[in-house]
Amino acid sequence: MLDLINVSYDTRIPNNVGLSSDKRVLKALEKWHPGYINWWNDLIPRKFQESLIYLRTAVSVDPKGWAKFDYVKMPEYRWGILLAPKVEGRIIPCGEHYGEPAWQEVPGEYRAMLRRLIVIQGDTEPASVEQQRFLALTAPSLYDMRNLFQVNVEEGRHLWAMVYLLHKYFGRDGREEADELLRRQSGSEEAPRLLGAFNEETPDWLSFFMFTYFTDRDGKMQLESLAQSGFDPLSRSCRFMLTEEAHHMFVGETGVGRTIQRTCEAMREAGIDDPFDVDRVRDLGVIDLPLIQKKLNLHYTLSLDLFGQEVSTNAANAFNAGIKGRYHENRLDDDHQLKDATYPVWNFVDGKLVREEVPALTAINMRLRDDYTKDAAGGVGRWNKIIEKAGIEFELKLPHEAFHRQIGVFAGKTFDPEGNLLTQAEYEARKGEWLPNKTDGDFIQSLMKQVTEPGKYAGWIAPPKVGIDNKPGDFEYVKLHMA
Ligand SMILES: [Fe+2]
Ligand SMILES: [Fe+2]
Repeated sequence: MLDLINVSYDTRIPNNVGLSSDKRVLKALEKWHPGYINWWNDLIPRKFQESLIYLRTAVSVDPKGWAKFDYVKMPEYRWGILLAPKVEGRIIPCGEHYGEPAWQEVPGEYRAMLRRLIVIQGDTEPASVEQQRFLALTAPSLYDMRNLFQVNVEEGRHLWAMVYLLHKYFGRDGREEADELLRRQSGSEEAPRLLGAFNEETPDWLSFFMFTYFTDRDGKMQLESLAQSGFDPLSRSCRFMLTEEAHHMFVGETGVGRTIQRTCEAMREAGIDDPFDVDRVRDLGVIDLPLIQKKLNLHYTLSLDLFGQEVSTNAANAFNAGIKGRYHENRLDDDHQLKDATYPVWNFVDGKLVREEVPALTAINMRLRDDYTKDAAGGVGRWNKIIEKAGIEFELKLPHEAFHRQIGVFAGKTFDPEGNLLTQAEYEARKGEWLPNKTDGDFIQSLMKQVTEPGKYAGWIAPPKVGIDNKPGDFEYVKLHMA
Protein backbone atom coordinates (compact mmCIF):
# COMPACT_ATOMS: atom_id res chain seq x y z
CA MET A 1 0.00 0.00 0.00
CA LEU A 2 1.15 3.49 -0.77
CA ASP A 3 2.65 5.16 2.29
CA LEU A 4 1.71 8.80 2.14
CA ILE A 5 3.37 9.91 5.35
CA ASN A 6 6.87 8.55 4.94
CA VAL A 7 9.00 9.43 2.00
CA SER A 8 9.73 6.78 -0.53
CA TYR A 9 13.22 6.57 -1.97
CA ASP A 10 12.46 4.04 -4.73
CA THR A 11 12.95 6.70 -7.41
CA ARG A 12 15.80 9.19 -7.72
CA ILE A 13 13.35 11.81 -6.56
CA PRO A 14 12.22 11.21 -2.96
CA ASN A 15 8.48 11.68 -2.70
CA ASN A 16 5.25 10.80 -0.96
CA VAL A 17 3.10 11.16 -4.05
CA GLY A 18 3.55 7.65 -5.42
CA LEU A 19 5.84 8.78 -8.21
CA SER A 20 7.10 5.27 -9.01
CA SER A 21 3.63 4.34 -10.27
CA ASP A 22 3.11 7.60 -12.16
CA LYS A 23 5.43 6.94 -15.11
CA ARG A 24 4.48 10.00 -17.14
CA VAL A 25 5.24 12.49 -14.40
CA LEU A 26 8.29 10.55 -13.21
CA LYS A 27 9.73 10.67 -16.72
CA ALA A 28 9.05 14.40 -17.07
CA LEU A 29 10.67 15.14 -13.72
CA GLU A 30 13.68 12.96 -14.50
CA LYS A 31 14.11 15.02 -17.64
CA TRP A 32 13.93 18.24 -15.66
CA HIS A 33 16.30 16.99 -12.92
CA PRO A 34 19.69 17.44 -14.72
CA GLY A 35 18.85 21.05 -15.56
CA TYR A 36 18.12 21.65 -11.92
CA ILE A 37 21.43 20.09 -10.81
CA ASN A 38 23.26 22.21 -13.40
CA TRP A 39 21.53 25.31 -12.08
CA TRP A 40 22.62 24.44 -8.55
CA ASN A 41 26.19 23.58 -9.57
CA ASP A 42 26.63 26.76 -11.60
CA LEU A 43 25.28 28.82 -8.74
CA ILE A 44 26.92 27.78 -5.49
CA PRO A 45 30.72 28.25 -5.38
CA ARG A 46 32.48 24.93 -5.99
CA LYS A 47 34.28 24.79 -2.64
CA PHE A 48 30.95 24.59 -0.86
CA GLN A 49 29.61 21.92 -3.20
CA GLU A 50 32.32 19.64 -1.90
CA SER A 51 31.90 20.54 1.76
CA LEU A 52 29.89 18.44 4.18
CA ILE A 53 27.01 20.43 5.62
CA TYR A 54 25.01 19.40 8.67
CA LEU A 55 21.55 19.66 7.13
CA ARG A 56 18.07 18.52 7.88
CA THR A 57 16.32 16.53 5.19
CA ALA A 58 12.58 15.99 5.17
CA VAL A 59 11.95 12.27 5.56
CA SER A 60 8.27 12.41 6.45
CA VAL A 61 5.39 14.85 6.59
CA ASP A 62 4.45 13.78 10.09
CA PRO A 63 4.54 17.00 12.18
CA LYS A 64 6.41 15.10 14.90
CA GLY A 65 9.73 14.07 13.46
CA TRP A 66 9.57 15.02 9.80
CA ALA A 67 13.25 15.85 9.50
CA LYS A 68 16.53 14.01 9.90
CA PHE A 69 19.88 15.76 10.47
CA ASP A 70 23.13 14.57 8.95
CA TYR A 71 26.19 15.68 7.01
CA VAL A 72 25.41 16.01 3.31
CA LYS A 73 27.19 17.39 0.27
CA MET A 74 24.69 19.84 -1.16
CA PRO A 75 24.56 18.49 -4.73
CA GLU A 76 23.63 15.13 -3.15
CA TYR A 77 20.83 16.61 -1.05
CA ARG A 78 17.61 14.60 -1.43
CA TRP A 79 15.31 17.26 -2.82
CA GLY A 80 11.92 15.69 -2.75
CA ILE A 81 8.26 16.12 -3.48
CA LEU A 82 6.25 16.15 -0.31
CA LEU A 83 2.60 16.89 0.19
CA ALA A 84 0.95 17.27 3.57
CA PRO A 85 -1.55 14.44 4.26
CA LYS A 86 -4.92 14.65 2.58
CA VAL A 87 -7.67 15.94 4.82
CA GLU A 88 -10.73 13.73 4.28
CA GLY A 89 -13.82 15.68 3.27
CA ARG A 90 -11.95 18.94 2.70
CA ILE A 91 -14.13 21.57 1.07
CA ILE A 92 -13.44 24.61 -1.09
CA PRO A 93 -13.03 27.15 1.68
CA CYS A 94 -14.12 30.36 -0.05
CA GLY A 95 -15.71 32.03 -3.03
CA GLU A 96 -18.56 31.03 -5.27
CA HIS A 97 -17.87 27.28 -4.88
CA TYR A 98 -17.71 27.53 -1.11
CA GLY A 99 -18.61 24.22 0.54
CA GLU A 100 -18.17 22.03 -2.55
CA PRO A 101 -15.58 19.22 -2.29
CA ALA A 102 -12.01 20.44 -2.89
CA TRP A 103 -10.75 19.81 -6.43
CA GLN A 104 -8.32 16.95 -6.96
CA GLU A 105 -7.83 17.97 -10.61
CA VAL A 106 -7.41 21.42 -12.10
CA PRO A 107 -10.82 22.97 -12.78
CA GLY A 108 -10.75 23.88 -16.48
CA GLU A 109 -12.19 27.38 -16.07
CA TYR A 110 -9.42 28.35 -13.63
CA ARG A 111 -6.51 26.60 -15.29
CA ALA A 112 -4.69 29.74 -16.46
CA MET A 113 -5.14 31.51 -13.14
CA LEU A 114 -3.84 28.54 -11.18
CA ARG A 115 -0.86 28.04 -13.43
CA ARG A 116 0.08 31.68 -13.07
CA LEU A 117 -0.07 31.57 -9.26
CA ILE A 118 2.04 28.41 -9.17
CA VAL A 119 4.60 29.92 -11.55
CA ILE A 120 4.89 33.12 -9.50
CA GLN A 121 5.34 31.17 -6.27
CA GLY A 122 7.82 28.83 -7.97
CA ASP A 123 9.83 31.72 -9.39
CA THR A 124 10.57 33.22 -5.98
CA GLU A 125 12.12 30.02 -4.62
CA PRO A 126 15.24 29.70 -6.83
CA ALA A 127 15.44 33.51 -7.03
CA SER A 128 16.31 33.81 -3.36
CA VAL A 129 19.06 31.19 -3.71
CA GLU A 130 20.47 33.25 -6.58
CA GLN A 131 20.37 36.40 -4.50
CA GLN A 132 22.25 34.72 -1.67
CA ARG A 133 24.81 32.84 -3.71
CA PHE A 134 27.97 34.63 -2.52
CA LEU A 135 27.16 34.97 1.15
CA ALA A 136 28.94 31.80 2.29
CA LEU A 137 32.22 33.51 1.38
CA THR A 138 31.63 36.01 4.18
CA ALA A 139 29.75 33.84 6.69
CA PRO A 140 30.29 35.08 10.26
CA SER A 141 30.47 31.48 11.54
CA LEU A 142 29.99 27.87 10.48
CA TYR A 143 26.66 27.92 12.31
CA ASP A 144 25.44 30.78 10.12
CA MET A 145 26.88 29.23 6.98
CA ARG A 146 24.97 26.05 7.71
CA ASN A 147 21.75 28.00 8.22
CA LEU A 148 22.25 29.78 4.91
CA PHE A 149 22.67 26.48 3.10
CA GLN A 150 19.71 24.98 4.93
CA VAL A 151 17.52 27.82 3.71
CA ASN A 152 18.99 27.46 0.21
CA VAL A 153 18.40 23.73 -0.16
CA GLU A 154 14.85 24.12 1.13
CA GLU A 155 14.10 26.92 -1.31
CA GLY A 156 15.39 24.48 -3.91
CA ARG A 157 12.93 21.91 -2.62
CA HIS A 158 10.12 24.46 -2.82
CA LEU A 159 10.96 24.90 -6.47
CA TRP A 160 10.59 21.13 -6.85
CA ALA A 161 7.21 21.32 -5.14
CA MET A 162 5.88 23.84 -7.69
CA VAL A 163 7.53 22.08 -10.63
CA TYR A 164 5.83 18.85 -9.61
CA LEU A 165 2.43 20.56 -9.75
CA LEU A 166 3.25 22.02 -13.18
CA HIS A 167 4.33 18.64 -14.56
CA LYS A 168 1.58 16.64 -12.97
CA TYR A 169 -1.40 18.89 -13.68
CA PHE A 170 -0.57 21.19 -16.60
CA GLY A 171 0.76 19.03 -19.41
CA ARG A 172 2.91 20.63 -22.08
CA ASP A 173 2.60 24.27 -21.00
CA GLY A 174 3.37 23.13 -17.44
CA ARG A 175 6.61 21.56 -18.68
CA GLU A 176 7.50 24.73 -20.54
CA GLU A 177 6.88 26.85 -17.45
CA ALA A 178 9.04 24.46 -15.40
CA ASP A 179 11.90 24.99 -17.84
CA GLU A 180 11.44 28.77 -17.69
CA LEU A 181 11.83 28.63 -13.91
CA LEU A 182 15.41 27.51 -14.47
CA ARG A 183 16.04 30.01 -17.27
CA ARG A 184 15.08 33.25 -15.50
CA GLN A 185 17.77 34.60 -13.17
CA SER A 186 17.63 37.09 -10.34
CA GLY A 187 18.84 40.49 -11.56
CA SER A 188 19.20 39.35 -15.18
CA GLU A 189 18.65 41.93 -17.93
CA GLU A 190 17.13 39.54 -20.49
CA ALA A 191 15.21 37.22 -18.19
CA PRO A 192 14.75 38.63 -14.69
CA ARG A 193 12.75 36.96 -11.94
CA LEU A 194 9.06 37.89 -11.95
CA LEU A 195 8.89 40.03 -8.79
CA GLY A 196 10.92 43.14 -8.01
CA ALA A 197 12.21 42.24 -4.54
CA PHE A 198 13.65 39.04 -5.98
CA ASN A 199 15.86 40.92 -8.40
CA GLU A 200 17.55 42.93 -5.65
CA GLU A 201 20.94 41.87 -4.38
CA THR A 202 21.48 40.35 -0.97
CA PRO A 203 24.90 41.98 -0.51
CA ASP A 204 25.65 41.19 3.13
CA TRP A 205 24.55 39.12 6.10
CA LEU A 206 22.40 41.76 7.72
CA SER A 207 20.48 41.92 4.44
CA PHE A 208 20.19 38.14 4.47
CA PHE A 209 18.73 38.17 7.98
CA MET A 210 16.35 41.01 7.11
CA PHE A 211 15.38 39.18 3.91
CA THR A 212 14.62 35.93 5.73
CA TYR A 213 12.69 37.84 8.38
CA PHE A 214 10.67 40.12 6.10
CA THR A 215 10.64 38.61 2.63
CA ASP A 216 10.38 34.96 3.64
CA ARG A 217 7.47 36.14 5.77
CA ASP A 218 5.78 37.49 2.64
CA GLY A 219 6.42 33.98 1.30
CA LYS A 220 4.77 32.56 4.38
CA MET A 221 1.66 34.73 3.86
CA GLN A 222 1.43 33.75 0.18
CA LEU A 223 1.83 30.08 1.12
CA GLU A 224 -0.81 30.49 3.82
CA SER A 225 -3.27 31.82 1.29
CA LEU A 226 -2.40 29.10 -1.24
CA ALA A 227 -2.67 26.50 1.54
CA GLN A 228 -6.34 27.59 1.59
CA SER A 229 -6.73 26.81 -2.09
CA GLY A 230 -9.67 24.75 -3.25
CA PHE A 231 -7.19 22.98 -5.55
CA ASP A 232 -6.18 20.35 -3.04
CA PRO A 233 -2.72 19.35 -4.39
CA LEU A 234 -1.63 22.98 -4.19
CA SER A 235 -3.01 23.31 -0.68
CA ARG A 236 -1.17 20.17 0.44
CA SER A 237 2.13 21.28 -1.14
CA CYS A 238 1.97 24.66 0.52
CA ARG A 239 1.01 23.26 3.89
CA PHE A 240 4.19 21.21 3.99
CA MET A 241 6.33 24.09 2.69
CA LEU A 242 5.13 26.18 5.61
CA THR A 243 6.69 23.67 8.01
CA GLU A 244 10.10 24.41 6.49
CA GLU A 245 9.49 28.14 6.11
CA ALA A 246 9.30 28.60 9.88
CA HIS A 247 13.04 27.91 10.15
CA HIS A 248 13.83 30.57 7.54
CA MET A 249 12.13 33.23 9.59
CA PHE A 250 13.82 31.91 12.71
CA VAL A 251 17.17 32.42 10.98
CA GLY A 252 16.16 35.98 10.17
CA GLU A 253 14.75 36.90 13.55
CA THR A 254 17.63 35.43 15.56
CA GLY A 255 20.21 36.76 13.10
CA VAL A 256 18.99 40.33 13.49
CA GLY A 257 18.58 39.77 17.23
CA ARG A 258 22.16 38.52 17.62
CA THR A 259 23.44 41.50 15.61
CA ILE A 260 21.55 43.88 17.90
CA GLN A 261 22.76 42.06 20.97
CA ARG A 262 26.41 42.28 19.96
CA THR A 263 26.05 46.01 19.18
CA CYS A 264 24.49 46.67 22.58
CA GLU A 265 27.18 44.64 24.38
CA ALA A 266 29.98 46.46 22.58
CA MET A 267 28.39 49.85 23.35
CA ARG A 268 28.11 49.02 27.02
CA GLU A 269 31.67 47.71 27.23
CA ALA A 270 32.88 50.94 25.64
CA GLY A 271 30.64 53.11 27.81
CA ILE A 272 28.69 54.54 24.87
CA ASP A 273 25.10 55.42 25.79
CA ASP A 274 24.08 57.38 22.74
CA PRO A 275 23.01 55.05 19.94
CA PHE A 276 23.33 57.98 17.50
CA ASP A 277 27.02 58.34 18.23
CA VAL A 278 27.42 56.37 15.05
CA ASP A 279 31.12 56.90 14.35
CA ARG A 280 32.20 55.70 17.76
CA VAL A 281 29.90 52.70 17.58
CA ARG A 282 31.25 51.77 14.15
CA ASP A 283 34.80 52.06 15.44
CA LEU A 284 33.93 49.15 17.72
CA GLY A 285 33.34 46.98 14.65
CA VAL A 286 29.62 46.54 15.26
CA ILE A 287 26.57 47.74 13.33
CA ASP A 288 24.95 50.84 14.85
CA LEU A 289 21.26 50.63 15.71
CA PRO A 290 20.24 53.48 13.34
CA LEU A 291 21.74 51.50 10.47
CA ILE A 292 19.83 48.39 11.56
CA GLN A 293 16.69 50.56 11.39
CA LYS A 294 17.60 51.64 7.84
CA LYS A 295 18.02 48.04 6.74
CA LEU A 296 14.69 47.21 8.35
CA ASN A 297 13.04 50.10 6.47
CA LEU A 298 14.42 48.83 3.19
CA HIS A 299 13.51 45.17 3.51
CA TYR A 300 10.10 45.74 5.06
CA THR A 301 9.01 48.12 2.32
CA LEU A 302 10.37 45.96 -0.51
CA SER A 303 8.39 43.10 1.01
CA LEU A 304 5.18 45.18 1.22
CA ASP A 305 5.42 45.70 -2.53
CA LEU A 306 5.15 41.94 -3.00
CA PHE A 307 1.51 42.05 -1.91
CA GLY A 308 0.53 43.93 -5.07
CA GLN A 309 -2.13 46.60 -5.49
CA GLU A 310 -4.32 47.29 -2.46
CA VAL A 311 -7.45 47.05 -4.59
CA SER A 312 -7.15 44.25 -7.08
CA THR A 313 -9.58 42.48 -9.36
CA ASN A 314 -7.07 39.64 -9.89
CA ALA A 315 -7.05 38.98 -6.17
CA ALA A 316 -10.85 39.20 -6.07
CA ASN A 317 -11.12 36.72 -8.94
CA ALA A 318 -8.73 34.26 -7.30
CA PHE A 319 -10.68 34.42 -4.04
CA ASN A 320 -14.01 34.16 -5.76
CA ALA A 321 -12.79 31.18 -7.73
CA GLY A 322 -11.71 29.47 -4.51
CA ILE A 323 -8.11 29.29 -5.76
CA LYS A 324 -6.59 31.48 -3.06
CA GLY A 325 -8.05 32.11 0.37
CA ARG A 326 -7.42 34.67 3.09
CA TYR A 327 -4.96 34.10 5.92
CA HIS A 328 -6.49 31.33 8.08
CA GLU A 329 -9.61 31.33 5.90
CA ASN A 330 -10.83 28.09 7.48
CA ARG A 331 -10.75 29.69 10.93
CA LEU A 332 -12.59 32.88 9.97
CA ASP A 333 -16.19 33.24 10.95
CA ASP A 334 -18.10 34.82 8.07
CA ASP A 335 -19.80 33.81 4.82
CA HIS A 336 -16.42 33.10 3.10
CA GLN A 337 -17.85 34.80 0.03
CA LEU A 338 -17.61 38.44 1.11
CA LYS A 339 -20.96 39.24 -0.46
CA ASP A 340 -21.64 42.46 1.47
CA ALA A 341 -18.48 42.94 3.54
CA THR A 342 -16.23 45.96 3.25
CA TYR A 343 -12.60 46.47 4.21
CA PRO A 344 -10.63 49.68 4.84
CA VAL A 345 -7.82 50.35 2.35
CA TRP A 346 -5.38 53.20 2.05
CA ASN A 347 -6.18 55.90 -0.41
CA PHE A 348 -4.80 59.27 -1.17
CA VAL A 349 -7.41 62.03 -1.25
CA ASP A 350 -6.70 65.78 -1.54
CA GLY A 351 -3.10 65.35 -0.49
CA LYS A 352 -4.02 63.27 2.56
CA LEU A 353 -3.73 59.60 3.43
CA VAL A 354 -7.05 58.08 4.39
CA ARG A 355 -8.40 54.61 4.87
CA GLU A 356 -11.57 54.10 2.88
CA GLU A 357 -14.06 51.26 3.02
CA VAL A 358 -14.21 49.30 -0.22
CA PRO A 359 -15.85 45.95 -1.06
CA ALA A 360 -13.81 43.39 0.91
CA LEU A 361 -13.65 41.14 -2.12
CA THR A 362 -11.47 43.66 -3.92
CA ALA A 363 -9.29 44.27 -0.86
CA ILE A 364 -7.90 40.74 -0.45
CA ASN A 365 -4.31 41.91 -0.99
CA MET A 366 -4.65 44.75 1.49
CA ARG A 367 -6.03 42.41 4.10
CA LEU A 368 -3.22 39.90 3.63
CA ARG A 369 -0.71 42.76 3.87
CA ASP A 370 -2.28 43.92 7.13
CA ASP A 371 -2.04 40.37 8.47
CA TYR A 372 1.60 40.37 7.38
CA THR A 373 2.35 43.64 9.16
CA LYS A 374 0.86 42.31 12.39
CA ASP A 375 2.91 39.15 12.04
CA ALA A 376 6.11 41.09 11.29
CA ALA A 377 5.64 43.40 14.27
CA GLY A 378 6.14 40.52 16.72
CA GLY A 379 9.83 40.07 16.06
CA VAL A 380 10.45 43.82 16.08
CA GLY A 381 9.04 43.87 19.62
CA ARG A 382 11.41 41.08 20.62
CA TRP A 383 14.38 42.94 19.10
CA ASN A 384 13.43 46.00 21.15
CA LYS A 385 13.46 43.86 24.30
CA ILE A 386 17.15 43.11 23.66
CA ILE A 387 17.92 46.82 23.38
CA GLU A 388 15.84 47.63 26.44
CA LYS A 389 17.55 44.94 28.51
CA ALA A 390 20.92 46.44 27.61
CA GLY A 391 19.69 49.77 28.99
CA ILE A 392 20.02 51.61 25.70
CA GLU A 393 17.41 54.12 24.63
CA PHE A 394 16.43 53.23 21.12
CA GLU A 395 13.37 51.72 19.55
CA LEU A 396 13.16 49.93 16.22
CA LYS A 397 9.92 50.60 14.31
CA LEU A 398 8.19 49.39 11.22
CA PRO A 399 7.98 52.45 8.96
CA HIS A 400 4.62 53.73 7.71
CA GLU A 401 3.39 51.69 4.75
CA ALA A 402 3.53 54.76 2.55
CA PHE A 403 7.28 55.03 2.87
CA HIS A 404 9.51 53.92 -0.02
CA ARG A 405 6.90 52.15 -2.09
CA GLN A 406 7.01 51.10 -5.68
CA ILE A 407 3.60 49.44 -5.96
CA GLY A 408 0.10 50.47 -4.96
CA VAL A 409 -1.47 53.80 -4.01
CA PHE A 410 1.74 55.21 -2.55
CA ALA A 411 3.91 54.52 -5.60
CA GLY A 412 5.24 57.60 -7.37
CA LYS A 413 4.87 59.78 -4.26
CA THR A 414 7.42 60.42 -1.55
CA PHE A 415 6.83 60.06 2.19
CA ASP A 416 8.97 59.97 5.30
CA PRO A 417 8.88 56.88 7.56
CA GLU A 418 6.10 58.51 9.63
CA GLY A 419 3.90 58.74 6.55
CA ASN A 420 4.22 62.51 5.97
CA LEU A 421 4.08 63.52 2.34
CA LEU A 422 7.29 65.16 1.12
CA THR A 423 8.28 66.84 -2.09
CA GLN A 424 10.65 64.85 -4.25
CA ALA A 425 13.44 67.29 -3.35
CA GLU A 426 12.84 67.01 0.40
CA TYR A 427 12.79 63.26 0.11
CA GLU A 428 16.00 63.06 -1.92
CA ALA A 429 17.75 65.33 0.56
CA ARG A 430 16.85 63.14 3.54
CA LYS A 431 16.67 59.65 2.00
CA GLY A 432 20.10 58.74 3.41
CA GLU A 433 18.76 59.07 6.96
CA TRP A 434 16.14 56.44 6.30
CA LEU A 435 17.64 53.98 3.86
CA PRO A 436 21.17 52.54 3.72
CA ASN A 437 23.44 54.84 1.72
CA LYS A 438 26.76 54.10 0.07
CA THR A 439 28.80 54.80 3.24
CA ASP A 440 26.54 52.47 5.23
CA GLY A 441 26.91 49.75 2.64
CA ASP A 442 30.68 50.10 2.55
CA PHE A 443 30.85 49.98 6.33
CA ILE A 444 28.83 46.77 6.52
CA GLN A 445 30.93 45.27 3.74
CA SER A 446 34.08 46.04 5.74
CA LEU A 447 32.76 43.79 8.54
CA MET A 448 31.91 40.87 6.30
CA LYS A 449 34.81 38.50 6.88
CA GLN A 450 34.46 34.76 6.79
CA VAL A 451 34.97 32.95 10.11
CA THR A 452 35.44 29.19 9.80
CA GLU A 453 36.78 28.06 13.14
CA PRO A 454 34.11 25.94 14.90
CA GLY A 455 32.48 27.85 17.76
CA LYS A 456 33.91 31.24 16.69
CA TYR A 457 31.85 34.22 15.53
CA ALA A 458 32.64 37.43 13.69
CA GLY A 459 32.89 40.41 16.02
CA TRP A 460 29.66 42.05 14.85
CA ILE A 461 27.32 39.20 15.84
CA ALA A 462 26.65 37.33 19.08
CA PRO A 463 26.65 33.51 19.17
CA PRO A 464 23.22 31.83 19.21
CA LYS A 465 21.67 30.77 22.49
CA VAL A 466 21.25 27.15 21.36
CA GLY A 467 22.74 25.12 18.57
CA ILE A 468 20.92 23.55 15.66
CA ASP A 469 19.64 20.09 16.61
CA ASN A 470 20.87 20.92 20.15
CA LYS A 471 24.49 20.64 19.14
CA PRO A 472 27.16 22.11 21.45
CA GLY A 473 28.72 25.55 20.82
CA ASP A 474 31.86 24.30 19.09
CA PHE A 475 30.05 21.89 16.78
CA GLU A 476 31.47 21.77 13.26
CA TYR A 477 28.31 22.57 11.25
CA VAL A 478 30.24 22.68 8.01
CA LYS A 479 33.24 20.53 7.19
CA LEU A 480 34.80 22.76 4.61
CA HIS A 481 37.85 20.70 3.92
CA MET A 482 37.21 17.06 3.60
CA ALA A 483 39.76 14.65 5.00
FE1 LIG B 1 10.34 28.91 0.00
FE1 LIG C 1 11.89 30.54 2.69
